[in-house]
Amino acid sequence: MNNLFQEPQSNTLLENSALCRKLHLNLQRNQKQDHTQLLDEAAAAFRYEDCQDEYWNPEEFSLLYGTALWDESTASQRVVLNQLYWVAYYSQIISAEIATIYFNQTSAAGLYAQEDFRTVCDMLDLESAQERAHISAFKTIADQVEAKLFGERLFSYPMRSPFTETMIYADTNALKRWWKQLQLQAFGLLSAGNTFLACQYFTVRGLRTLNGKLVQHKLSRYYQTHLDPDHAPIPAKISYYHFMDESFHFNSSTLLSHEVVNCLNPPTRFESTVANLGILGCQKDHYHFSAAINGIFWFDPAIYSTIYRLLRSPIFGLDVESAKAMLQRCFSQESAGLHRSYQTHQEAMESYKAYLTPISYAWSRNREMALMAKNSIDTYLNIQRRSLRRVLPSLEEDIINQRPVEKKSVLESGTLP
Ligand SMILES: [Fe+2]
Ligand SMILES: [Fe+2]
Repeated sequence: MNNLFQEPQSNTLLENSALCRKLHLNLQRNQKQDHTQLLDEAAAAFRYEDCQDEYWNPEEFSLLYGTALWDESTASQRVVLNQLYWVAYYSQIISAEIATIYFNQTSAAGLYAQEDFRTVCDMLDLESAQERAHISAFKTIADQVEAKLFGERLFSYPMRSPFTETMIYADTNALKRWWKQLQLQAFGLLSAGNTFLACQYFTVRGLRTLNGKLVQHKLSRYYQTHLDPDHAPIPAKISYYHFMDESFHFNSSTLLSHEVVNCLNPPTRFESTVANLGILGCQKDHYHFSAAINGIFWFDPAIYSTIYRLLRSPIFGLDVESAKAMLQRCFSQESAGLHRSYQTHQEAMESYKAYLTPISYAWSRNREMALMAKNSIDTYLNIQRRSLRRVLPSLEEDIINQRPVEKKSVLESGTLP
């Protein structure tokens, strides 16, 4: 659209025809390759019985890979750990994508206040619809697997609001959760009415997607290199289809946070502070690394009770004392698995630094990922040893008390609430 009225323009997106072309192309290609239908069909065809004896990811992407539990597991237990990595990993992705849908929408509202932003908003609409298909596919698999294996939820959860803590195993408590919810709600309101903040949301989304890309690229290779792709396990197909959609999402995050932002007025002091607090929040969320799951930055003390329930389930069948001893060995000792997870944390940190290089308003502690850089194997082990001492004595009792009364009926019906 030309500026027919010679009005002063608050942005120059249309004048940057190369950028407009890139945005248009990203949208067009994503529309053309959209994997929504394939994902829906795959999820609808999923029956756990059909692929329960196979790996769904490369072997090193198994729950607790390279720890004492993995080393001592039988071949069939390893298959379950491999499948549970998928369930746990994508349960985390569901939570992140629920938040993404909300902020795509508030950001689109903030960006649509400018001339010429239709393509950007159409792109975000498509991405939100794709996220709903992703969530639906992940949830179908996760719910069915956990209902069949345990008759109760381990890593999955019922649908949740975008204002819930995004990390499903975080270093948190009731007060921190309430404060996080307020921050998320405040950012939603701000971004819907502020073009710069709407645009800079994609810096945070880009960082988070970058972390996903590191692992999801490897997960998607399992299907791509499968000897008989037509008969590959459906969850492996879903990993591949999802990765294909997400590569467009990452492109749009980069275009918005590195290029479109330069078509807007430079940030005020307030806008720059809010933007940097958002990036700092991402560093906080990604501070920890987990011996249980390589590539997701969970706070392991928050996962002890879930892993304990897994060890006590018929899959591993450990008694109370053996299960506690296994937790000690998996989380408080150095292991090959822990080193792999730390390595991924380091790789993520380096890629975040590179991603932030063109962001002129980023504070140096964000640019250098100073908070994330403070974590180490020693810090991890100290936290675990302290937490295990506190948590282990009452673990069995806590779990019995937490278990919902309706568990019995769930076991009988084979479906999860
Ligand atoms: Fe997604
Ligand atoms: Fe996405």
